[in-house]
Amino acid sequence: MTPLLFDLGAHPGLSARLQALLGAERGELELRRFPDGECYLRLDTSPEDRAVILLCPLDRPDQRTLPMLFAAATCRELGAARVGLAAPYLAYMRQDIRFRPGEAVTSRTYASMLSEALDWLVTVDPHLHRYGSLDEIYRLPARSIAAAPALATWLRTEVEHPVLIGPDAESAQWVAEVAARIGAPWLVLEKARRGDRDVAVTVPDLDGHAGCTPVLLDDIVSTGGTMAAALAHLRQQGYAAPVCALVHAVFADEAEAKLRAAGAARIVSCNTVVHATNAVCVAELMADGIRDCLR
Ligand code: R5P
Repeated sequence: MTPLLFDLGAHPGLSARLQALLGAERGELELRRFPDGECYLRLDTSPEDRAVILLCPLDRPDQRTLPMLFAAATCRELGAARVGLAAPYLAYMRQDIRFRPGEAVTSRTYASMLSEALDWLVTVDPHLHRYGSLDEIYRLPARSIAAAPALATWLRTEVEHPVLIGPDAESAQWVAEVAARIGAPWLVLEKARRGDRDVAVTVPDLDGHAGCTPVLLDDIVSTGGTMAAALAHLRQQGYAAPVCALVHAVFADEAEAKLRAAGAARIVSCNTVVHATNAVCVAELMADGIRDCLR
């Protein structure tokens, strides 16, 4: 049966392309806020006996998660055969340990809530640091799609002689994979985080890569602190203005302005979080994962 796709705030290009690739019917819904901030949701297309795909990036998660959960519950109540979540960006993955006594390990609680409400999950490059896979915290079939092939294609056509640089050790997994695909050299910097918005970065000797275009690559830019610190150090040491390539443009605060002020030549992101820097489409990659879940 033709799957039914409800779009709860994805990039329009991603949504349209996924719909076409999956041969899905677009579900109509009404979603708005009451004056007191609560949300009103109505499904205008019946989900009865349908395989439902909720397409919902989970940036600004405290605002987006409840409407998505309400949609999932309503689909189930109204007889959907299965309800899955295609979340191009999955939130609450970075709070994966109790650093100080009493802290909430929100990644676990968030995973429990979503696992209860849904039948499957497809996402793009979740921030897996201390967790080896989503299966450690999610109790539903969960697929992680790597954006590396799409980023590699963009870099191959847009940047001459790149050297890929990850701003911290955690970024090595993404940087190494993209570098391997385009046959480029890569390295990672050392980062010390001193607070939510305060990071220090150490830049190694890049002399062996003279003549290359530095490309800073990371999974997420949130406050921009990590990437801005890396940019500033590279610029201070006389390197060419770097390209900043990232998967998820979460961009809190004035992150984009911060990166530009720190010397970014260009900023590009995947269309997993709607942002003006979106230039890399992950629809084909996501469609493969969703098809597997729909089988
Ligand atoms: C952390 O390890 C991630 O890979 C990012 O480097 C980090 O979350 C970016 O955060 P911010 O932009 O706030 O420095």
